[in-house]
Amino acid sequence: MINSKTQLMGLIGHPVEHSISANMHNAIYKALNLNYAYLNFDVKTDDLKKAIDGAKTLNVLGYNVTIPHKINVMKYLDEIDFMAKMIGAVNTIHFKEYQNDKTKTLCTKAIGYNTDGIGAVEAITEEINLKNKKVVVLGAGGASRAIAFQIAISGINELVILNRTDEKAKILSNECENKLTQLNKSNQSNKSNQSNKSNQLHTQNNSKIKEKIDFNENMIFKYGNLLNIEEELKNADVLINTTSVGLYPNINDKPLAIADMMHSDLVVNDIVYNPIDTGLLKEAKIAGAKTIPGTKMLIYQGAVSFNIWTGHDAPIDVMEKAVYKSRSQLKH
Ligand SMILES: NC(=O)c1ccc[n+]([C@@H]2O[C@H](COP(=O)([O-])OP(=O)(O)OC[C@H]3O[C@@H](n4cnc5c(N)ncnc54)[C@H](OP(=O)(O)O)[C@@H]3O)[C@@H](O)[C@H]2O)c1
Repeated sequence: MINSKTQLMGLIGHPVEHSISANMHNAIYKALNLNYAYLNFDVKTDDLKKAIDGAKTLNVLGYNVTIPHKINVMKYLDEIDFMAKMIGAVNTIHFKEYQNDKTKTLCTKAIGYNTDGIGAVEAITEEINLKNKKVVVLGAGGASRAIAFQIAISGINELVILNRTDEKAKILSNECENKLTQLNKSNQSNKSNQSNKSNQLHTQNNSKIKEKIDFNENMIFKYGNLLNIEEELKNADVLINTTSVGLYPNINDKPLAIADMMHSDLVVNDIVYNPIDTGLLKEAKIAGAKTIPGTKMLIYQGAVSFNIWTGHDAPIDVMEKAVYKSRSQLKH
């Protein structure tokens, strides 16, 4: 029930009316009896700074950020978590109170995170242990960036990024390899220089994000165009579609990979969640592969955001029910 102590969270984006994040988060608050409320805020790009400053003034606890603000919003934040910095986009903001040492007053700072990549990785690790696995990612857009950086620090052995525009796959793959190799070197020299201090690179103390770093320094980074899919899938363990192929209303478009290209030990994740059962997942089922729908990433990225704002673990089953209920109420 909303009362004088209710704290506010919300989604900022443009447009936001089709989002089901509010249903998912409000279902958590109800199930855990927490005095929070989550609303959708349609914010135009010119009003983005006002939305951040206003949240600080009004004691908003957190925002999720969606298209088109994930990159632009970064310039209005006080701190950015190192993974969000590496990815170059923010999808979660925590408005955190702190004591200003000079004025001895309570102030609020806006801290940016990216939970998209970790959401996808948590969804995939429900089905498969990623240690030493080969992962093929289709697409090199915004969602692919978040997933590529996060999955590359999840203990895997090989990351192959394939995209219609292969130049974009090359840029993302090279950036991932260079930044993570650099991070690994700094981590190692930090460890030897300050053996009993915490890792300086992890600027925020968010445990969910911090504990997930496992970079294999011999990891293979590859990239190419979509003609390479069949060859790369032969010995792959995981296939992730991050392209918008199959997204409503184009639900009958030919999937980028068909059953004949897959094998039964493959785990196939399509991050498109409208429809839930995409053409790619139907092909994966024909091949006898394990499938992970895009709703799982949506749920887990929301669960990590909730953890950042409140410190509580989110009830995944409650979120799942809320997502399926809202999806079934939508016309498409
Ligand atoms: N489950 C979740 O929580 C979640 C979260 C974020 C996004 N998503 C979904 O992920 C999808 C991508 O989002 P995004 O933000 O990454 O979009 P984006 O930045 O616009 O990237 C789109 C990607 O799809 C590729 N693509 C588009 N049409 C294609 C076609 N006909 N054939 C082959 N490739 C095609 C693009 O290739 P080019 O580079 O060649 O154009 C690019 O790699 C959307 O469907 C979105 O709804 C889901």
